Amino acid sequence: MSPAESAEPAAPSGESSGASSGASAGASSGASATGEWYRHFGTVDAPGSSACYAEWSTSIAEDPELIRRIDEWPHNKRQPLLMLAAARFLGAQVSPYPEFRSFLDAHWADVSRVVLSRATQTNEAGRCATLLPSLAQIAAAEGRPLALIEVGASAGLALFPDRYGYEFDGAGTDGGAGDGVGVPTRLVPTGAPSGSFPVLRCAISGPVPLPAELPPVVWRAGIDLNPLDVRNPDDVAWLEALIWPEQDFRRERLRQAIAIAQAQPPLLVAGDLNEQLVSLAGQAPADAALVVFHSAVMAYLDAESRERFRSSIAGLAAKRGCHWLSNEGHMVIAQADGSNVVPEMDDARLRGRFLLLHNGQPVAITGPHGQSLEWL
Ligand SMILES: C[S@@+](CC[C@H](N)C(=O)[O-])C[C@H]1O[C@@H](n2cnc3c(N)ncnc32)[C@H](O)[C@@H]1O
Repeated sequence: MSPAESAEPAAPSGESSGASSGASAGASSGASATGEWYRHFGTVDAPGSSACYAEWSTSIAEDPELIRRIDEWPHNKRQPLLMLAAARFLGAQVSPYPEFRSFLDAHWADVSRVVLSRATQTNEAGRCATLLPSLAQIAAAEGRPLALIEVGASAGLALFPDRYGYEFDGAGTDGGAGDGVGVPTRLVPTGAPSGSFPVLRCAISGPVPLPAELPPVVWRAGIDLNPLDVRNPDDVAWLEALIWPEQDFRRERLRQAIAIAQAQPPLLVAGDLNEQLVSLAGQAPADAALVVFHSAVMAYLDAESRERFRSSIAGLAAKRGCHWLSNEGHMVIAQADGSNVVPEMDDARLRGRFLLLHNGQPVAITGPHGQSLEWL
């Protein structure tokens, strides 16, 4: 896994709980702590995924005047990815640091405005590839179509697993699909012209229960503190800005997923997942199999809120019946409250990837952007 894959999911903790390695650096609010945060991002997170972000971030770490300005923001806004995305949102081009620094000088008031009004809400449709086998298993076991609720949905792009194409590549492994070692398994939405949907590529290992077809979804809805609207050009531009400069394939995938969501915008409820889950679940069709899922969200919550969420899920399962898919990573080295987002597996095994749990049971280790799936 490239270090960059671990960098974005670390971002949420920097926004809310102040719990990422960076956030804890930022928490002490000293200029050098912020500098360390940028140095860490530039030397650990960015290299391998974005040479530009690596250079900008390490240079910012050595730029006391800029660090002083960044330190004027609340500490959860000093997060490198947020600041860099804000500059990109405003038009900063890939360039050597001195040019970027001039851009910041010329646009600092606007950078501040964007940083203070936005948050890192990267919406990665690619994660559907790692959820798909579990969703298909659930639909098959229940013998019913699916009703999906994503908590922490951002713009809701992960709510369309039935509308994307997939290429699962088990080259060099047992593939798990039973269709031959090294032969990628392709799945496409029935009737959709090629080019009208993103194809999510995922390297698989272990006995991944690949389905023969995409599971039917009859209802989909999401909850987010700040749902992004795919019909709002500003929100779309922000989603694009959150993708790192050199990751063109992710930008292309994002655009294709956005086009699908624009044609059929998902129901997105604004609010805290703990406040909204039960009432939203009440709107799901009773004859569908309800799946509540989340990716790269739990790092935003403190231990008490995560515990409350687990109780809500248990209540829903007992009362109405539901499945729970959790796809989360450590990413955060230490939560502010000392708790661990993924206590089920230690980081030495995850190595920056996510753990996928079905109803609380670990089933797979997944690439943070959906690029890999290791079935356990
Ligand atoms: C990194 S994004 C991930 C988005 C999406 N799950 C994905 O995988 O592409 C995390 C999202 O969780 C949302 N979020 C964080 N805490 C939340 C809460 N307590 N209730 C609802 N949404 C929350 C944020 O606003 C953000 O949009």
